[in-house]
Amino acid sequence: MPRIRIAPSILSADFAALGREIAAVERGGADLIHVDVMDGHFVPNITIGPPVVRALKRVATRPLDVHLMIEDPDRYIDEFVAAGADMISVHVEAARHLHRTIHCIRDQGAKAGAVLNPATPAALLEDIAADLDYVLVMSVNPGFGGQAFIPHSIDKLRHVRAVLDAAGSRAEIEIDGGVDHGNVADIGAAGATILVAGHAIFGSGDPEAATRSLRQAALGAAQGAGPR
Ligand code: DX5
Ligand code: ZN
Repeated sequence: MPRIRIAPSILSADFAALGREIAAVERGGADLIHVDVMDGHFVPNITIGPPVVRALKRVATRPLDVHLMIEDPDRYIDEFVAAGADMISVHVEAARHLHRTIHCIRDQGAKAGAVLNPATPAALLEDIAADLDYVLVMSVNPGFGGQAFIPHSIDKLRHVRAVLDAAGSRAEIEIDGGVDHGNVADIGAAGATILVAGHAIFGSGDPEAATRSLRQAALGAAQGAGPR
């Protein structure tokens, strides 16, 4: 049975109380802390940078999963690794020399992921699949939390798994955007093992309980799907 990991996205957390919010989801069993970095260019929104990642690293006990939604990500890889990022993902639409970027991340000891926007085909991963630790499938257009899950993303997960398998890659698949208790069954059955959730966890009023119940829903889905 595939291991399911829950990655609460702090984008929907109370930014004035990030330490407390992270402690709550960790009590609820969070496996990773998902950190959304936005530059106001690749996506319309602006969020946080390396200084905040460094501060989060002091309080988080789980690995930091840093999702870069920025132009020219190569410029900032060193800084994010130095700040404490354990996993770094870059958008294939933003990384002009993706192979170099992925290896730059790995050479510095972090896990490297490639991210696909909803309109970007899985086939674009064919020649980089063997180099990836994980693939992040966006199930909303990046930039904001609380958007509706794009149903086609379920087929996309299967396409990505097929591309990875064809390349002999055991890379995990992460999904991000509109994930909630109502769709984790389908998401797990389609092959995603890292589930990012922002609004479903931090918008719930009880992030600890929501993390725990999302895991339960996802584990039920994985058991239903059987071993891969
Ligand atoms: C969107 C971000 C997501 C976002 C997900 O651009 O990459 O990580 O926080 O939030 P929800 O789960 O609310 O869609
Ligand atoms: Zn994200």
